[in-house]
Amino acid sequence: MNTGDSILDVVGPLGKPSEIENFGTVVVMGGGVGTAMAYPTAAALKRAGNRVISIVGARNKELVILERELREVSDALMITTDDGTYADKGFVTDKLRQLIENGTRIDLVLAIGPIPMMRAVAEMTRKERIRTVVSLNPIMIDGTGMCGGCRVLVDGKSEFACVDGPEFDGHRVDFSVLVQRNSMYRAAEQKSMQEFQREKLLLDAVPAQERTTCALHGGGR
Ligand code: FES
Repeated sequence: MNTGDSILDVVGPLGKPSEIENFGTVVVMGGGVGTAMAYPTAAALKRAGNRVISIVGARNKELVILERELREVSDALMITTDDGTYADKGFVTDKLRQLIENGTRIDLVLAIGPIPMMRAVAEMTRKERIRTVVSLNPIMIDGTGMCGGCRVLVDGKSEFACVDGPEFDGHRVDFSVLVQRNSMYRAAEQKSMQEFQREKLLLDAVPAQERTTCALHGGGR
């Protein structure tokens, strides 16, 4: 959107707020766009007096976000990229493992990112008995607990990520169910993405002055 454009409706805040207190040493882990959600929580944890160690991971250099901002609110910041095009090649869990192996005292881990990343973090910290909070991102529709779309299994009980979460104890989440539910619409999502990319190609071929605002939705020229 451009400066001056408006958003029709905004609903919120929804769900429960993050638990912010002085835990001691907190490792905040952001994977991909999860870093955008991890940043304000890292800042709040720092303000609450915690020692904050942030670990950010992205697929490649272009996808590393909020580095400067996170550095300002962290006592230490580590970055990994899957392909090694920036900082250290590897995954955020490699850095967490290093911290654990170095004997760093960790009172809490907060992990926000793709499901496989949060699952791997939770498995690693379970063995070490380090309290771990994950922020879940199931498909959400209404965001108010009515549709059931965001249902997750926590300690064998159904919870709604939109009202009971999004943050849950990572050691109690059934990640297998989460993976299965989040892949329910994969075929439809891929079809939408293909259509979007096809229309974007068409749009990109139209000179800017000839474009109409509905070009993306109706291919209008
Ligand atoms: S998004 Fe509908 S119940 Fe959570």
